[in-house]
Amino acid sequence: MATAAEVAQLSERPEAPRQTTEFRTSRPQIVGPECPESPFPILLAGPVQKGFGRGGKELGCPTANLPDESITPISSVAKTGVYYGYAQVLPPKDGKTELCEADVRVLPMVMSLGWNPFYKNEILTAEIHIMHEFRSDFYGYNMNALVLGYIRPELDYTSRDALIEDIEVDKRVALNSLNRPEYQKFRADPHFDLSCTIPPQS
Ligand SMILES: Cc1cc2nc3c(=O)[nH]c(=O)nc-3n(C[C@H](O)[C@H](O)[C@H](O)COP(=O)(O)O)c2cc1C
Repeated sequence: MATAAEVAQLSERPEAPRQTTEFRTSRPQIVGPECPESPFPILLAGPVQKGFGRGGKELGCPTANLPDESITPISSVAKTGVYYGYAQVLPPKDGKTELCEADVRVLPMVMSLGWNPFYKNEILTAEIHIMHEFRSDFYGYNMNALVLGYIRPELDYTSRDALIEDIEVDKRVALNSLNRPEYQKFRADPHFDLSCTIPPQS
């Protein structure tokens, strides 16, 4: 298995597999062992950046991207693909924010690591979709994430609807997979700030 970082060194990206009917109709609803195994958990942290603005929101999956240096802990040990885990957005140090208490909790997430074959990105990205309705955007805020398992390879699609459908399945698979005792424990991992609160806004 080549890691994402190794693939990034190649002069040409290997062609991503196409989504097939067989893949679509035979997806498992839960993935990974009962307890996270090496290389998981993988810890990520960094300031949230804007994506390519191609409409993650319209795809039903607005994503928070991490800068290049923040994705090395995963790209150096893992292949490209879709992963699940937990993430937490931290309020800015000056305390001024439109986010509320519920927005800064440790929340379930799905992450796409790679070159988004459907969009043929030029650069490697780690795009995290947190499964929660946020009160506002949080670009520039720090985010901590813990990656706990692998769901599937990144695929190429013949239509945007087929990609949206797979992302919806990814979200369900992630929630099912995280809903096991050995995964739930990571919600309280010291990588997160469990005492995080939002001060009253003036
Ligand atoms: C859970 C998840 C799975 C994804 N799977 C794929 C995939 O298999 N192939 C692909 O090309 N892009 C995939 N994407 C990337 C989306 O295409 C991308 O996040 C979307 O285009 C938003 O891009 P933007 O940040 O430019 O708005 C996935 C994204 C998420 C969150």
